[in-house]
Amino acid sequence: MKSHLSLVLCGLLFPLALAAVPADDTPSPKKQEAAEILACAKVAAAGFLPVASTRDQRFEGKVAEVTAFCRGGQNAVQFRITPWVDFSNYWGTGDLSSLPSGFLSPKTAQINGVAGALLDLEYKRIELIKFNLFDNNGTFQDYLSGRGGLMGAAIKTWPQMRLPQGDPNYLAVGGAGEQICKGDLIRFRTLTGICNDIRNPLMGSNGTPFARNVEFETTFPDLEQTQLTKNRHGGRINLLTPDPQVVSRKLFTRVQSNPGACNLGFGLPNNSPEANCDYQKAPFFNVLAAFWIQFMTHDWFSHMEEGHNAPPMMDIGCKTQKVNNVETPLTPDQIEKLGCRPADRVDTTYVQQDSPPGQFSAGGRTYLTRAPKTFSNDNTAWWDASQLYGFDEISVKRVKRDPKDPAKMLLEPMAGVPGPGYLPVLSAGDPMQPQWAGQESVAFPDNWSVGLSFYHNLFAREHNSFVDEFRRQAALKPEADSGLRNPSDPSRVIRNQDVTPEELFQVARLVVAAEIAKIHTIEWTTQLLYGEPLYKGMNANWNGLIGTGDPDVSNALADVVVHGFGKSKNAAAESQWYSVFASGPGIFGLGSQVPNYNIANPNDVNGGVNHFGSPFNFPEEFVTVYRLHALMPDLLEYRELNKDPNQIVQKVAVIETFEGKATDAMRSRGMANWGLSMGRQRLGLLTLHNQPQFLQNIKLPRLDTPTQQIDIAALDLIRDREHGVPRFNEFRRQYGLRQMTSYNDFVDQHLPPGSPARQQQEAYVSELREVYGTHVCDASKVITDAQRNADGSLINDCLGHPNGSVVDNIEDVDTVVGWLAETTRPHGFAISETQFVVFILNASRRLYSDRFFTSSFRPEFYTQLGIDWVNHNGPGPEMMEAGMPNGHQQPVSPLKRILMRNIPELTPQLQPVINVFDPWGRDRGQYYSLDWTPRPEAGSDPAFKQ
Ligand code: HEM
Repeated sequence: MKSHLSLVLCGLLFPLALAAVPADDTPSPKKQEAAEILACAKVAAAGFLPVASTRDQRFEGKVAEVTAFCRGGQNAVQFRITPWVDFSNYWGTGDLSSLPSGFLSPKTAQINGVAGALLDLEYKRIELIKFNLFDNNGTFQDYLSGRGGLMGAAIKTWPQMRLPQGDPNYLAVGGAGEQICKGDLIRFRTLTGICNDIRNPLMGSNGTPFARNVEFETTFPDLEQTQLTKNRHGGRINLLTPDPQVVSRKLFTRVQSNPGACNLGFGLPNNSPEANCDYQKAPFFNVLAAFWIQFMTHDWFSHMEEGHNAPPMMDIGCKTQKVNNVETPLTPDQIEKLGCRPADRVDTTYVQQDSPPGQFSAGGRTYLTRAPKTFSNDNTAWWDASQLYGFDEISVKRVKRDPKDPAKMLLEPMAGVPGPGYLPVLSAGDPMQPQWAGQESVAFPDNWSVGLSFYHNLFAREHNSFVDEFRRQAALKPEADSGLRNPSDPSRVIRNQDVTPEELFQVARLVVAAEIAKIHTIEWTTQLLYGEPLYKGMNANWNGLIGTGDPDVSNALADVVVHGFGKSKNAAAESQWYSVFASGPGIFGLGSQVPNYNIANPNDVNGGVNHFGSPFNFPEEFVTVYRLHALMPDLLEYRELNKDPNQIVQKVAVIETFEGKATDAMRSRGMANWGLSMGRQRLGLLTLHNQPQFLQNIKLPRLDTPTQQIDIAALDLIRDREHGVPRFNEFRRQYGLRQMTSYNDFVDQHLPPGSPARQQQEAYVSELREVYGTHVCDASKVITDAQRNADGSLINDCLGHPNGSVVDNIEDVDTVVGWLAETTRPHGFAISETQFVVFILNASRRLYSDRFFTSSFRPEFYTQLGIDWVNHNGPGPEMMEAGMPNGHQQPVSPLKRILMRNIPELTPQLQPVINVFDPWGRDRGQYYSLDWTPRPEAGSDPAFKQ
């Protein structure tokens, strides 16, 4: 196996140039480069790091000094002492300034830097797969201890993933005998998500519990059920302590230069462009990206059912604050000054199981079999576009088909408006909550606004565009083989003219879901993490390290992955390398190139998936890092195509497009104008003091409470506490990231002392200290077993400070607060490194586990047109961008093609756009520039004057 690894990593990631080193050590660029080359030679000679055998030995994103020097010179060495990962200081991982100047061969340095970053990320992923999978269905004991002679990580089927008696498909999958999905159950994505993995029918279906990425014993820290959590938090935390509304008001509120012009996020009458709500903006990410990720989360997970939580109603803070480290009741004056609301109340999160979990012993230690409480995911966990197509019997009733052609989604043309029209509005017979009245009818209607309306309408149009193209081709060649097959009758060729409307609808769903996954992987994420390592990494996940250029090599690598690992009984040891190999051929389509592929053979249909010994579902910790409400601006800067696109003609409050108000906002202004407006506007930075005013003050008439209001930023903290998410410092340790020892660690050490940015961060540190407090530490109290001090000793309450000294309550910081406070980020990262690490694991698993993205990505399921459509980003051959953006030949991006296809009025505006999520008026400059400067055509856009 090692030789394969060396082949992949050395051949594709890590080309080192060796050269002679001059004798003296004058620090000229030439000499320094020579020293780096020597360092690189030493690194290469030392070979690859072994993967840690225990959790507390993990690679924490920190490399040896010689490695840092090889990959980033002195700069990388200098920042090794900080808690933050090293790769962001390597050559070539930033903008042009991250490349060495005056070097003999900057290219080599760049390659070493970027390849080194990719190598670090791959180690991270291997360790995350090894240490961070905790299933809540009762499979965890087998995962640790193995079953029937198989080690846990090699187990591929679980009795817990069988359909229970009483399920309508129980008999169809085999009843009490061996369960295996077949026939109609495996053809397409099922409504409830069953039978994606045909041998684990229940996996990922709606109503199954959220998983965890952290040890069960570390969840629900406020219950203080273990000595470690007791020691860690010392009785200082609970559901409402520190007070969530106080945290929100003191740490999250956007500072307004002119509060009257913002009007708590409501803007000014008549959508006056004079309105203004200040927010901290990301220069390289737009509002389309913000609504995109909300649209995605509505596909992946939901704790709520049909727009509500469970009784009883509960208080949500605005009661106390810390005064000299003691929780002290707020006075009316203080309440008024803070702007919080003690009378706010909200419904409670649904709990699936809260009976005490079982225990078992393994390797001399006792473990819980699941978390003390579990919560069910009301969505299908699959990336199956269920927000559009439905996830249960209720939601699917809101999905309207075109009665004239049931292969299509219903879009209602509007009188006098050209184009395919809009989704119909919910009507009396539709299952709905009162708060959704007047909204467009969609499977997932919650928290609706004009942004979600945009994507739901766009993908309904895209669905229909695919159907139209299929029908066009079928009319030209009715006898031609569509590629589709029915597993109940696998040898029957299904010709174009034989494809039924129902089959075509389901094929279009598969295609739309795969397009969405592709946009998210190679377009949204590469802009979210705007730099060369992640551009390469994400494209490798999708297309393979070597792209699609050489199918022979790609197929050979795919064969190594699927046959070398997928079928091996020794997969336990080998699966840790699986992800490395999988990015060789690309995860997408893995196992779909098997010779003589047979849709009746379960091994062919299912052979490409890998769950690494733990059934797939999203973990609670994943939901935490998607609490991205800070991305939202309060006001949308509305522009019109038929006027000057550089002019902001209105400022429309997001809240004025909430729920039913979205329908008129969308229809009166039109998709094209909204596309332009949200494409041009920057989204909010994920940082402290950047939560939208309107979300802190939102009115939800569904709540039977005195205020009917809630502060969603505060509620984000409460929900995480209800779900038992560990607090920030332990969260990082659990994910193999280095802990912090004081609030001061949040200050970015790259910033010069006294600089305005540093001063602002220091002010944030003082606020954290005020809100979360300090305590006198006790070195006899061990607080974690997930990590150790550098000298191998156990980490205690003093976090390296002298016993009895006053230390920060850094252990109590809520995870959302912690990742928002992280200012030290790799270049072009719109998210923090803590969030990023959660994504590395779960974003990959979302692809690895889904057979429709791996071994069932085949014409037998998608039709040949469907496969080509996904691969080429639409009908016909792949289109390429002119030039070499950031040094790469690049296809026209999938979302750009979708927008041009379905909102053709946008085509001229999109022409210069390389990535739809990069603000459309921005000049991308050279090599991952983050500058906020306009393209020549956008010179007069007032957004560039801010
Ligand atoms: C118009 C904008 C938005 C509104 C009005 C809104 C509103 C809400 C509300 C009312 C909740 C439910 C709180 C509860 O009772 O637990 C919620 C949850 C959530 N929101 Fe938003 N939100 C918006 C935008 C976003 C965006 C842009 C994201 C980015 C990903 C996001 C991510 C989440 C997540 C992850 C949850 C938790 C869901 C769960 O627990 O299953 N939201 N939001």
